[in-house]
Amino acid sequence: MTSTRESVLIDISDTNLTLSSRAGAVDILRDINLAIHTGETVGIVGPSGSGKTSLLMVMAGLEQVTSGRVMFADHEMSALDEDQLALIRGEHIGIVFQSFNLVPTMTALENTALPLEFAGATEPFERARALLEDVGLEHRNDHFPAQLSGGERQRVALARALASKPSLLLADEPTGNLDGQTGGEVIDLIFDLHKTHNTTLVLVTHDETLAGRCQRQIKIEDGCVKSTYNPTIAEVG
Ligand SMILES: Nc1ncnc2c1ncn2[C@@H]1O[C@H](COP(=O)(O)OP(=O)(O)O)[C@@H](O)[C@H]1O
Ligand SMILES: [Mg+2]
Repeated sequence: MTSTRESVLIDISDTNLTLSSRAGAVDILRDINLAIHTGETVGIVGPSGSGKTSLLMVMAGLEQVTSGRVMFADHEMSALDEDQLALIRGEHIGIVFQSFNLVPTMTALENTALPLEFAGATEPFERARALLEDVGLEHRNDHFPAQLSGGERQRVALARALASKPSLLLADEPTGNLDGQTGGEVIDLIFDLHKTHNTTLVLVTHDETLAGRCQRQIKIEDGCVKSTYNPTIAEVG
């Protein structure tokens, strides 16, 4: 068995997320039990509204669960306050969203350097330059988001997400706003970066082919984990 306790990066147990809406309380995630191991690539799939983004937000510590326990390495995320969660996120977790979420008034280089400046890193711009080179955008350092194509914006978002050398990269429908070919290139890049930067990758997508590129797929339906599929285990067992 390779699943020693040390290799578990995220451990979600007996977890529920209930949010209040005008119509009353809504059960968004129900009885989630899930472990993600260091270095794994995991695809989270499921229909729209099934709770994929909510699950990712829980992993990022951006949404606090209603009950249950969420561990990130040795940190009990479900017991921390917002400031403590922000610290862990800043140090260990990179996130990319469907809508890129770049700061429009900052250049590609400034956007990438931002988390490094927040973290008080030495030479943030030097490292940001190297990151933009990693994503093939060294010629776009001084461009603003509006001057970049969708694919280029997502590359900047990836460079920014990796700036603090996170152990975990969370990607929520990262190709959702891109055409097929550009999306494919961004996904290739995400898998390349997973290898070179040694990050654990959790990729949310409604595209099962895309999820199939991950080592393991987790299917979410109506807020529940419907199935997990690990081809490696399937072969052995
Ligand atoms: N802040 C919120 N308050 C109430 N319901 C929400 C909130 N955010 C999401 N939901 C609901 O939670 C469910 C899951 O949403 P989401 O996690 O975004 O699903 P997915 O990413 O799979 O499309 C949906 O039914 C959505 O309407
Ligand atoms: Mg979503």
